[in-house]
Amino acid sequence: MATAPPRVLTVAGSDSGGGAGIQADLKTMLAHGVHGMSVLAAVTAQNSIGVQGYWELPAEAVRAQLDSVLSDIGVDAVKTGMLASAGLVRAVASVLSTVDVPVVVDPVSVSKHGDPLLAEEAVDAVRSELLPVATLVTPNLHEAAQLGGVKVADERGLRRAAEAVLALGPKAVLVKGGHLAERRATDVLVTRAGVRHFPGEYVEARHTHGTGCTYSAAIATHLALGRSLEEAIDRAKVYITEAIRAGLALGQGIGPTDHFFYLRQSGACERWLASLGDPGVRR
Ligand SMILES: Nc1ncnc2c1ncn2[C@@H]1O[C@H](COP(=O)(O)OP(=O)(O)OP(=O)(O)O)[C@@H](O)[C@H]1O
Ligand SMILES: [Mg+2]
Repeated sequence: MATAPPRVLTVAGSDSGGGAGIQADLKTMLAHGVHGMSVLAAVTAQNSIGVQGYWELPAEAVRAQLDSVLSDIGVDAVKTGMLASAGLVRAVASVLSTVDVPVVVDPVSVSKHGDPLLAEEAVDAVRSELLPVATLVTPNLHEAAQLGGVKVADERGLRRAAEAVLALGPKAVLVKGGHLAERRATDVLVTRAGVRHFPGEYVEARHTHGTGCTYSAAIATHLALGRSLEEAIDRAKVYITEAIRAGLALGQGIGPTDHFFYLRQSGACERWLASLGDPGVRR
């Protein structure tokens, strides 16, 4: 019997190191059993140490990919990540304004190492064109401060920044607390109905490459699975915490989280490999 799982689309940049960006998004989707699709906006040369360079695709190429996916396969939820330039932000926002499914916008502006991933002049386009089509925006502290034009030093500042971002038109804003000085993993959701905190266990972990991408991809995935916004955040929070706890020591710097922690931990991966036996003998 053929099955048709929910469809989730990421519009983002490629991380050659496989821990963040499009690669993290697709792994997250596969780990949750949905069908992941990817529209590539930019290519980064990236590893555990930093971003060595990036190249954006022409807007025409991004529009064509979106058209291919939407006109045939369709989507149940979308997330956006690195969009690199004002031109791409506008192109993507204009297509997404015609799509009637949840849109999670991760307003990526710098990498974990502080390397820029969004042109400075693109911030205005994010504010005026992308945020109004978002069901949820997931800025970290720096992005919330930048988008909202508010300084953030503590949890009160964090909430003020979230409210300033909400005023730009998205339905909801989730500011991530991972970067507050007092090492906390509580995220704050602000909607027109009020404020809700999502506390999380802070894991003393080194390998956190791609946490933001993974988290927003997991939220979009749960929305595609039919969860409410708060249920989706709740479940994605469990996933990112466990993926961080199981982080992979790859490269000289900050390694990726483990998107398949439960397969590794349950032994399912090893069992499957063992079940194949020795291909030489089978033939
Ligand atoms: N060490 C940690 N332990 C537990 N949770 C964490 C930790 N660091 C971040 N988180 C959580 O991971 C999620 C992603 O947040 P984070 O602040 O890392 O995003 P980000 O800055 O956008 O990441 P990235 O640099 O990958 O773009 C949030 O729910 C945050 O609370
Ligand atoms: Mg991020």
